[in-house]
Amino acid sequence: MAEQKERTFIAIKPDGVQRGIIGEVIKRFETKGFKLVGMKMLHAPQDLLEQHYIDLKERPFFPTLMKYMTSGPVVAMVWEGKGAVKTGRVMLGETNPADSKPGTIRGDFCIDVSKNIIHGSDSVDSANTEISLWFKEGDLCSYSSCAASWLY
Ligand code: RTP
Ligand code: MG
Repeated sequence: MAEQKERTFIAIKPDGVQRGIIGEVIKRFETKGFKLVGMKMLHAPQDLLEQHYIDLKERPFFPTLMKYMTSGPVVAMVWEGKGAVKTGRVMLGETNPADSKPGTIRGDFCIDVSKNIIHGSDSVDSANTEISLWFKEGDLCSYSSCAASWLY
């Protein structure tokens, strides 16, 4: 069996969806060279988000984060490729957009930490946990069976 390439979980948060930034985010990951292997739009249920952000449950901003993340639909995606987790985080910028450099997604499109438009996994382990939380294995595509494999 072919070795599975690194995957990361990226989600466009409700403000990113509302502001019409979906295409811009996809364009950046696609033109960088990562492969989209799963995508869905959903109004995420509270229990899913509580699991997703379980490490932050005791933080004072947790209730605000839950309210924000349930305020509208999100776009959940899995991107695949060499160094997808680390490079994905670099492409996102810092948690606080004020610390994010121009050229990063948060650096270019937002100004407030509580409305920072996008999520990205922070390690390979959390990527795998988040992917299995948001997607069933059968929902994800594989490019390894494509005839023109040199393209991928
Ligand atoms: P994310 O998980 O969403 O990709 O963000 P991150 O790793 O850069 O930051 P993390 O510490 O995991 O925080 C998750 C999200 O919580 C909100 N937040 N608000 N008000 C605050 O001080 C504060 N700190 C974090 C942000 O939406 C952050 O992305
Ligand atoms: Mg995080």
